[in-house]
Amino acid sequence: MSNDPLVLGIETSCDETGVALARGFGLLHDVVASSVEEHARFGGIVPEVASRAHLEALMPTIEMALQTSRVGLEEVDAVAVTAGPGLIGSLAVGLAAAKALAFALGKPLYGVNHVIGHALVDQLVHGAFDGPVLALVVSGGHSSLLVIDGPVVTELGQTLDDAAGEAFDKVGRLLGLPYPAGPHIDRLARTGNPGWTVFPRALTRRQDLEKHPYDFSFSGLKTAAARWIEAAQDEGRSVPVEDFAACFAEAVADVLTAKTITAARDQGLGTLVIGGGFSANSQLRDKAAERFAAAGLDLRIPPVEFCTDNGAMIAAAGVHALRHGLEPSGLGIGADSSMPLTQLLAT
Ligand code: KG4
Ligand code: ZN
Repeated sequence: MSNDPLVLGIETSCDETGVALARGFGLLHDVVASSVEEHARFGGIVPEVASRAHLEALMPTIEMALQTSRVGLEEVDAVAVTAGPGLIGSLAVGLAAAKALAFALGKPLYGVNHVIGHALVDQLVHGAFDGPVLALVVSGGHSSLLVIDGPVVTELGQTLDDAAGEAFDKVGRLLGLPYPAGPHIDRLARTGNPGWTVFPRALTRRQDLEKHPYDFSFSGLKTAAARWIEAAQDEGRSVPVEDFAACFAEAVADVLTAKTITAARDQGLGTLVIGGGFSANSQLRDKAAERFAAAGLDLRIPPVEFCTDNGAMIAAAGVHALRHGLEPSGLGIGADSSMPLTQLLAT
């Protein structure tokens, strides 16, 4: 273990400044400073506010991670940083710091893919993947099915419109819940009746499945939910928020788990990893645990603190790249706001 490389991971793709140190797949420390409260009053992330917050938080967060881990900067063997996808200004702050550190230390730089990192972080908790895995990455910006086979990532499907987290945030806003609304809908749904009504499940009919077997679509569900809320408001009826949240969450968890199981069967994969901010969702976690066990599939899902954005996922991606002998990214790499999901490292 002590011979494993020490990797510093830096994450600044959205509103969380995350820094972590990992020795191999052993996490030493993970610190996250969030600017989410600064965005709440705007009902969404304000990119300029996020970039400035990263600038202020990054160096103190790196210092805190080093101090708490009791390691000196000179002991770091490699620097991993999010190169994309994400907000360009936020990514630029982390990248500039990571490049400066890698250059000053004379150590390799790995510019990693944030979305793939959401799945790779599970290796810090449940150990290295011992073969190809099917990864469902669900966050505020992505709902994607990926096959991760060592350093090679293949994209099977994705959302054609809204991501799962985005749909929760938008519907939650209509219900008057604070941003980000995902965790609030989750909390309300826990005491609601998931059988109260049935919300639409897009791309699940036979003719859609032929064309989009592994793709998702949540904008129709979002619109159906929005219409329901608007009609209730127009008619002066109150929305039974717990039941409403439970049925909405049920529709999302149902489609996500059903399509993931189909993909696993089709691809002959027995191990499934779920990651990304939305994988903190308890309705998804419960349904995945129940359905995957019934299907005889091995489910790997990290604890909630590793689901939302953090530095540990980026350190884990760096360790994964090192472990599979990938060439480091050069110091000339730039931030890539739409980095393809098949690209683990920026080149
Ligand atoms: O991965 P993440 O931290 O940031 C992105 O890369 O997008 O994901 C944030 C998303 C937000 O949409 C948030 O509402 C959602 O994850 N989220 C949840 C829960 N926790 C976070 N959605 C539903 N239930 C939760 N418990
Ligand atoms: Zn994320």
